[in-house]
Amino acid sequence: MDNNDTSKAEQGEVEPSKSQPSEESKTVEESQPAPDKAIASEDNYVVFKGVKTGYGQMEVLHGIDLTVKKGEIVSLIGANGAGKSTTLMTLSGVNRVWDGEIIFDGESLNNLQPHEIVARGICHVPEGRQIFPDLTVRENLQMGAFLRNDKDEIQADLEKCFKLFPILDERSTQLGGTLSGGEQQMLAIARALMARPNVLLLDEPSLGLAPFIIQQIFAIVKDLNAQGTTVFIVEQNAKAALRLSHRGYVMETGKIVLSGKAEKLIEDPRVREAFLGE
Ligand SMILES: Nc1ncnc2c1ncn2[C@@H]1O[C@H](COP(=O)(O)OP(=O)(O)O)[C@@H](O)[C@H]1O
Ligand SMILES: [Mg+2]
Repeated sequence: MDNNDTSKAEQGEVEPSKSQPSEESKTVEESQPAPDKAIASEDNYVVFKGVKTGYGQMEVLHGIDLTVKKGEIVSLIGANGAGKSTTLMTLSGVNRVWDGEIIFDGESLNNLQPHEIVARGICHVPEGRQIFPDLTVRENLQMGAFLRNDKDEIQADLEKCFKLFPILDERSTQLGGTLSGGEQQMLAIARALMARPNVLLLDEPSLGLAPFIIQQIFAIVKDLNAQGTTVFIVEQNAKAALRLSHRGYVMETGKIVLSGKAEKLIEDPRVREAFLGE
């Protein structure tokens, strides 16, 4: 697999030639002589190479380059309408790739259907949760395992989810629609976990939730990552997302304009001004 273009471009070593947007894209480590060698091409798990997509005639992603390595938490931050959800929906196959390529674990996802992408362990927790309001908490969780037929293991995973989110255990017979926003977000994440994801895609998990609940949810995401789940998270809540992440990308109107280690991005004046209100 040849991801050299992508990773070098990310490190600011070369003028990327393939995708026009990257000429505006900067890394926060760009002025340093030895960029983060951890962004090595070999262990890239998810790779976007010059990805374009859109709706109808309108192009929304104008050639996105990004990578997520196995075991990382990577965040994609940006204002409302930047194209963050579109990026996740393209990765999960709901939106088709118009140009460029999305690769997972060395294999192109371009021509796969959403269920085939789920089968590869890429599980999307969409914006707005989208749990089943008329099913109980337990039934919602069971739906998350719909591609599996290992009954005993499913039961064991259900117990694990209830341990991770005790509130869901308490509410297991309650209808999904009667849960609070925070509980629904927990249910949506737990449901994705029932598919035993390799990569968890989280779209604005903090949206509309109280800071205390956001902290709880992000702590659990951190735990899941520590146990081996790779996480790609999309957030307008840039500070919370970057605090949680190893690396981040900043998106503006369908282009990546900045990327780098999360702790550097948090300090970057451009990020502070645009997203952190400082
Ligand atoms: N289903 C859709 N049909 C048409 N345009 C859409 C659709 N979804 C999103 N868009 C447009 O695509 C752009 C990016 O949207 P989105 O990916 O949802 O941004 P973000 O998640 O960063 O807020 C916006 O201009 C939005 O209006
Ligand atoms: Mg969105």
